[in-house]
Amino acid sequence: MAALIGRDLLSLGDLSPTEVEELLHMATQLKSQKLKLQCNKVLGLLFSKASTRTRVSFTVAMYQLGGQVIDLNPNVTQVSRGEPIQDTARVLDRYLDVLAIRTFAQEDLQTFANYAQIPVINALTDLEHPCQILADLMTIKEHFGSLAGLTLTYVGDGNNVANSLMLGCALVGMNVRIATPDGYKPNAAITEKARTIAATKTEVTLTNDAQNATKGSHVIYTDVWASMGQEAEAGDRLPIFQPYQINHQLLSLADKQAIVLHCLPAHRGEEITDEVMEGSQSRIWNQAENRMHAQKALLASILGAE
Ligand code: CP
Ligand code: NVA
Repeated sequence: MAALIGRDLLSLGDLSPTEVEELLHMATQLKSQKLKLQCNKVLGLLFSKASTRTRVSFTVAMYQLGGQVIDLNPNVTQVSRGEPIQDTARVLDRYLDVLAIRTFAQEDLQTFANYAQIPVINALTDLEHPCQILADLMTIKEHFGSLAGLTLTYVGDGNNVANSLMLGCALVGMNVRIATPDGYKPNAAITEKARTIAATKTEVTLTNDAQNATKGSHVIYTDVWASMGQEAEAGDRLPIFQPYQINHQLLSLADKQAIVLHCLPAHRGEEITDEVMEGSQSRIWNQAENRMHAQKALLASILGAE
C-alpha cells in the first residue's frame, strides 16, 4: 500500500506505468470494498478556482479513510491578501499531512511543493489535471476490462485535461489522438514527454481533423472550450470550436462499442450535445463517481494507509 508514500503528484508524468497500474487496481478494490484502508491524517484543500467534483470527492475519500479535511479557501486565508507561497507552504507543512492544490500556474504548484515537505497533489492547474485522468483510466478499464491497445480520441481544446490524458494514455499503453483547432494544440513539452513514454509501443497523434480522429476509436472524450481563467475568450471561441462538438454524427464514426467521457462541468450544446451526454454510450456519471475511488487510492498510497 505504500508505493507512493510521501510523494508529490504534480504531473501525471511523475508516475511510472507500474505505479499507475497499481493505483487503478487499488481504486477498483476500494470501490468494490474488497480492500479497506484507514489512516488518521489531515488533508488541506487549497483551491483558488471553483470545484464541485474534486473538492467533494477528495473530502469524502479522506473521511472514508478515517482522516480529516480542512477547506483552505483562499478567501478565508491570508492567501487572498498576498502572503507569499513560500511562507504559506512552510506554515501549512507544519499542520497538515497532505495538501491538494487547485490553482492557475503550474509554477505556483511547484513552488508549494518545493517549500512544503508534505506531499502536494495537483488538483488542477492550467497545465494538468492528473487526478481526473486516474479516474478516467479507471472508468475505461471498468468498461473494457483492460487498457493496453485501446484508442482514445479527445476532441476540443488542447487544455489541462488533454495534456494529462496524453500522459495517462501513454503510461497505460493506449493510443491517444488529440483533435483541436489550429492554435489550440496541447502543450508541446507534454506532447513530447507523452511520445517519449509511448516510445514505439503506441501513438500520440495531434490533428485538426475531428472526424478522422474519431474513426474506430474506443473512447471519445471532450471538455469545455474555455477553461477556468479563459472566460473572457469564451464567446470568440464558439465558432472556432463548432466542428469539434461531440454529437450523434461524430460518435457514429467511432467504434460501435465506444464510450463517451467528459470530465465535467459540461456546456451542453457546445462541446457535447444533450443527446450524447444522456445517451447509452455515455459513462460520464461513472467517471465522476470514480474520482472519489481513484483519489482515495492516491491518498492511501501517499499516506501509507493500512
Ligand atoms: N472535473 C472536475 O475537476 O470537476 P470540478 O471542477 O467540479 O472539480
Ligand atoms: N479544462 C477545465 C477542466 C475543469 C474540470 C478547466 O480547467 O476549467
